Amino acid sequence: MSHYSRVIGTGGYLPEKVLTNEEISLTVETSDSWIHERTGIKSRRIAAAHESASSMAEIAARQAIEVAGCDPETIDLIIVATGTPDRVYPSTGCLLQQRLGIKNAVAFDVQAACSGSIFGLSIADQYIKSGAAKTVLVVGSEICSRIVDWTDRSTCVLFGDGAGAVLLQAAEEKGILSTHIHSDGEYEDLLYCPNPQAAAKESEEEAGYIIMRGNEVFKVAVNTLGRIVDETLEANDMDKTDIDWLVPHQANIRIIAATAKKLKMSMDQVVVTLETQGNTSSASVLLAFNEAVRDGRIQRGQVVLLEAFGAGFTWGSALIRY
Ligand code: COA
Repeated sequence: MSHYSRVIGTGGYLPEKVLTNEEISLTVETSDSWIHERTGIKSRRIAAAHESASSMAEIAARQAIEVAGCDPETIDLIIVATGTPDRVYPSTGCLLQQRLGIKNAVAFDVQAACSGSIFGLSIADQYIKSGAAKTVLVVGSEICSRIVDWTDRSTCVLFGDGAGAVLLQAAEEKGILSTHIHSDGEYEDLLYCPNPQAAAKESEEEAGYIIMRGNEVFKVAVNTLGRIVDETLEANDMDKTDIDWLVPHQANIRIIAATAKKLKMSMDQVVVTLETQGNTSSASVLLAFNEAVRDGRIQRGQVVLLEAFGAGFTWGSALIRY
């Protein structure tokens, strides 16, 4: 009997078009220095008109499958984390299944905003540990540029588009050591994206764009991510020094630095992609993980802490022996 979910492949995709802070400052009242100092972001990628969450997910997924050298037909579960699905239904998971031509899998979406890929990893791990699935594809794919109000300087500078993927397989060697996921709907008003089509008709008309009280979100994020670090270490009876790499959600360099400080980690042990990608929501952690695996920073056998925080609020972590 296999007890662990082992990472056998990773993949990522970023659209070609780069949008710099300077370019944004031509359309809204902001500056490269304000954005970079407050967030750490210099530029982000923007999907082309023909692209969608499922088309980007396909590219990232194919890469993960190729790296793993895995027969796609052995994949028995596909989980897509997205807040920007191509369609209300079918799920982006089903659309991805069709694109990949995989017949014998069950596919569905997870909606946990920026924590989506951590929620996806947690679900995948439960399926594998219980024996209900053997090979699971988890993808985070987001086309944030379509739900951002490009006239709102407090949000439009933050987000970007992209997709990250990871392929997990049941194994006897250690892989995912633990996952921890949480939610608290009390904070629904601090960060949300209305769905005008489905909202109650007597509710105030709002466009379908991200609305955020950034300063308040910031404070809750820093505290919450500090707590999830403690929870994860305690659950594994590990010390801060046992962690080789932190792969955080890429929302703001100051939030990332606060988590690194809590772990007493140098920023050299933290994978940071937001400078050129912005916040790609549920794609960000898997994109960063893929990048550091590809460039050889993350080595087999090392302990990697993935964490994220998002609307809901939702938050979570996954501790992996890679
Ligand atoms: N350019 C210039 N000024 C801007 C600006 C921009 N792009 N966006 C906001 N401002 C202004 C505000 O209007 C405000 O002006 P005022 O003092 O005259 O009212 C001032 O900057 C300070 O705004 P504030 O929101 O307090 O700034 P901040 O230091 O908190 O930084 C964020 C704003 C959004 C960068 C920061 O709060 C953040 O990153 N929050 C977390 C967001 C997050 O993680 N979201 C996703 C969770 S998954």
